[in-house]
Amino acid sequence: MQTISGRSVQSRCLARVAAPGRKVCVVRAGAAVQDKPGEKVVGSAWQFTQPAGKGLGWYTGAEDGYLYVDQLRVEDIRRQVPEALFYLYSKNRVMHNYESYKKALEGLDSLPCYAVKANNNLIIMKQLAAAGSGAVLVSGNELKMAIAAGFDPSRTIFNGNGKLPWELELAVEKGVLINIDSEFDLQNIAAAARKTGKKAKVLLRINPDVDPQVHPYVSTGLAGSKFGIRNSHIKWFLDAIRAEPMLELVGVHSHLGSTITKVNIFRDAAVIMCEFIKMIRAEGFELKYLNIGGGLGIDYSHEGQVLPTPTDLIDTVRDIVKELGLTLVIEPGRSMIATSCALVNTVTGVKTNGNKNFIVVDGSMATLIRPSLYGAYQHIELTAPSTAEKQTFDVVGPICESGDYLGKDRVLPTPKAGDGLVVHDAGAYCMSMASNYNLKMRPAEYLVEDGKVRKIRHEETLEQHMAVFEGL
Ligand SMILES: Cc1ncc(COP(=O)(O)O)c(C=O)c1O
Repeated sequence: MQTISGRSVQSRCLARVAAPGRKVCVVRAGAAVQDKPGEKVVGSAWQFTQPAGKGLGWYTGAEDGYLYVDQLRVEDIRRQVPEALFYLYSKNRVMHNYESYKKALEGLDSLPCYAVKANNNLIIMKQLAAAGSGAVLVSGNELKMAIAAGFDPSRTIFNGNGKLPWELELAVEKGVLINIDSEFDLQNIAAAARKTGKKAKVLLRINPDVDPQVHPYVSTGLAGSKFGIRNSHIKWFLDAIRAEPMLELVGVHSHLGSTITKVNIFRDAAVIMCEFIKMIRAEGFELKYLNIGGGLGIDYSHEGQVLPTPTDLIDTVRDIVKELGLTLVIEPGRSMIATSCALVNTVTGVKTNGNKNFIVVDGSMATLIRPSLYGAYQHIELTAPSTAEKQTFDVVGPICESGDYLGKDRVLPTPKAGDGLVVHDAGAYCMSMASNYNLKMRPAEYLVEDGKVRKIRHEETLEQHMAVFEGL
């Protein structure tokens, strides 16, 4: 008998979904790995060890100790896909995260916009667009991808402190809502509107100067930030907008930062923003939107931290939004996608330098940079149970940098070359920040969808890289 309960927060969630004590059954999933739905790319007789009941995201089988995504053993998936290193997603988990925001917003006029910067996989973007999400964009290319994915441009928002003229022209042309970030940004938006012959709908991105209590690199709403306008300068912006017939001011925006785990921080900012809204309305502008920026942080620690839910977050600002008759815009990225995914690595070898042990894997700071960039913690575990001696390891990649690591001081069973090792919560700001440093090619991506594994991105090749030099 296998029961499902787990070591992580996700595991515990799953324990509620899949009845404990259910039997693990082995199923034959003939065409399980697909390039497109219905199209088989590897092995026609693919065996999965599958716990009965529907899984939701990532968890460890309590009795067999294997790592699962939805109903599938990661070890089985590793054996079937050709790549040793790949990102693996759970569609159920992405959709569950999106639905949590949608449910939280019930009873309010709202516009939930997925932050494409977190993860720009086209297949996942298509699925979110089909589910009705809007999108928040930070470049013209993200806007082009969003259109290709089927997002309604009038339900998208264009952010950024350095938007380029061509990006603004495209945004105005498509009817995207645009955040004004500075004096020159306002002039550039107006110029794009004049050139396009279409009015631009704009929001003022105001710095509420509230401390989000997060890493400085992901803190964006303080007075010293490079983003947004000084709140002492709002009057100048209102006069400039009034003088520019091609601009229509429709709302205000604030984004404090990412990884925020306290909802009172959002409330504090919303209260300040509402004072600005009242002041701006008193100046004769009809504001519709309050955009409170990105969503919640997640439990990267896997230590069972109880974090606020989307409902907790929305409920802290619900009264303000209702009282002022506003449409609430929220731009979640991390909390929509991070928990759906893990980076699946293969162990290259284990070494020691005398006083430190290292697990060397094929993934690296080129594939997943958050630990190296922010000192971020992402939970790491092996994909199969092991009785090998537990030791403390740094999990490192092959990149020629001492800062190349995926985890430090992790207590893990000593793996063998070829074993699987995952870095959890890798859906957000991992693949979208991956690089070709050391000429490591960005890896393939797979999605578990309806109990099957579907390829959703090809591994990049050196030939593609060489092509950028062709003819030079
Ligand atoms: C303007 C803006 N909106 C939304 C987001 C998404 O934030 P998060 O991924 O924390 O939800 C970001 C990310 O920092 C952002 O800069």
